[in-house]
Amino acid sequence: MTTALIDTSKRLREILDRLSSMSIEDYYNPYQMFDWPDSLPQDMWWMSPELTTAHGTEIAAELSQEQLYRLSKYESINFYSLNVHGIRELLIEVTGRIHTDEFATPSEFFHHFIGEENEHMWFFAQFCLRYGGKIYKQPRGGAETIPPNNAASLLVFARILIFEELVDHFNSTMALDERLDDTIRKINRIHHQDESRHIAFGRELVRILFEGFREHATPEDLTQVSDYLKRYMAYSFESLFSPQVYKDAGIPNPLEVRRRLLTGPRRPEFEAQVFRKTHSFLTKHGLIQAEAAAPEGVR
Ligand SMILES: [Fe+2]
Ligand SMILES: [Fe+2]
Repeated sequence: MTTALIDTSKRLREILDRLSSMSIEDYYNPYQMFDWPDSLPQDMWWMSPELTTAHGTEIAAELSQEQLYRLSKYESINFYSLNVHGIRELLIEVTGRIHTDEFATPSEFFHHFIGEENEHMWFFAQFCLRYGGKIYKQPRGGAETIPPNNAASLLVFARILIFEELVDHFNSTMALDERLDDTIRKINRIHHQDESRHIAFGRELVRILFEGFREHATPEDLTQVSDYLKRYMAYSFESLFSPQVYKDAGIPNPLEVRRRLLTGPRRPEFEAQVFRKTHSFLTKHGLIQAEAAAPEGVR
């Protein structure tokens, strides 16, 4: 069973030991880490333009440079707000499992994980409140009823992994983007460093939890898990497209803009970039199943 697999995996234990040691060695004081200037320049990119939802679309072509900068500012505030909400939810789930029988083995690592995520939530919230004047509300949906029953922990950690990998795609790009202000690059760099450990752990744990689940799963159970994870990925991606952001950026018809972007030609390419690594990991280990090819004539 799953518990036994977590407890007996030599590979997991080695990973946990290595990552816990790294957490201790790399430990920093987040409350002293940032300078937090009073304001950030408005006439520049706040987010790499390629990561903004309108990039390369007819909607972006209609905007002035000033509007594009403004859009990148509010998209960045939305991105950090999504982090705040995502972290609150994952903290609830991980805190609910630390030092339980099932998760005794990773509990030491969970202490680092919980501590680091609390700090990430703090610096993301600081950024939103200082430079955006608010934290955007959490979009609805995303964690609807979990099928099947015995997959609860598997799906929780798979969701955490998907969320962390999505965020890391943005962090790792922005950490290196010289068009961005130093404060923005730094927050992304620091988060990326910590998340590299969380993602390494998440991949191993999800692999083991899925191995345990698969032993007793029916083909229908496996399809349900696959469909659930695909829905969660689509929901996470779509949460980057916020009507409130378009409104704050001064773009007319925000709901229509969102609809056009989500149904437009750039979406599939952008979504594939964001989830390139995640998708190949989940497919390789059988958590998500390849789409059945449409019959000839339907394509
Ligand atoms: Fe984090
Ligand atoms: Fe994390």
